[in-house]
Amino acid sequence: MNQNIFPVFDKILTRKDKEKLLNQHAVVIWMTGLSGAGKTTLATYIAVELNNRGYLTQILDGDNIRAGINNNLGFTEDDRYENIRRISEVSKLFLDCGIVCINSFISPTNEIRQMAMDIIGKENYFEVFVNAPIEVCESRDVKGLYQKARKGEIKNFTGIDSPFDIPDHSFIEINTDQLTIDESVSKLLEKILPVIEYKG
Ligand code: ADX
Repeated sequence: MNQNIFPVFDKILTRKDKEKLLNQHAVVIWMTGLSGAGKTTLATYIAVELNNRGYLTQILDGDNIRAGINNNLGFTEDDRYENIRRISEVSKLFLDCGIVCINSFISPTNEIRQMAMDIIGKENYFEVFVNAPIEVCESRDVKGLYQKARKGEIKNFTGIDSPFDIPDHSFIEINTDQLTIDESVSKLLEKILPVIEYKG
């Protein structure tokens, strides 16, 4: 291999080249919302719909990321920042590869979401507020965590003893207490398909 070209290796193929190859425009679809609001469900269904239409996606999710790359982080304010910072950096790598990145993280505060947007780039960041009232999320209690938080067995639980700021600049809001899963998926698809379409 010619040693001289090695330093510029990563510049030879650009994000544009990869987007062209994949015939798609890469963005980050960033789902924010309370635990139990439906972020993971929506992410999973959207990924399938996009896959069926020929788009390459990657899901990053609170539960899988925290089991691996971020397994040294908890739920203090500082740890949540670090969690979202690393995820945002990882998302940038997927963007550079031309891949549509679908993220579901509580990302509870305006500041944290702002940091994610700053790292990822405003033009690449499409925020989806997956919204259901806390009473609804608590009644779903898919993982039994709200019950534990109410008993004081889990500290700093979002919506109970840790804040969640209502996002004010989301690209789209999906009210999962009012829509079925199919309706939620359709609503999001309608908005996101024109964004990821390859425009050359
Ligand atoms: S974030 O606040 O840093 O964005 P993230 O989305 O990664 O959170 O992780 C949230 C998931 O961790 C929840 O869906 C839930 O399963 C679990 N969890 C465990 N403890 C907490 C807690 N104290 N607050 C919120 N979620 C928690």
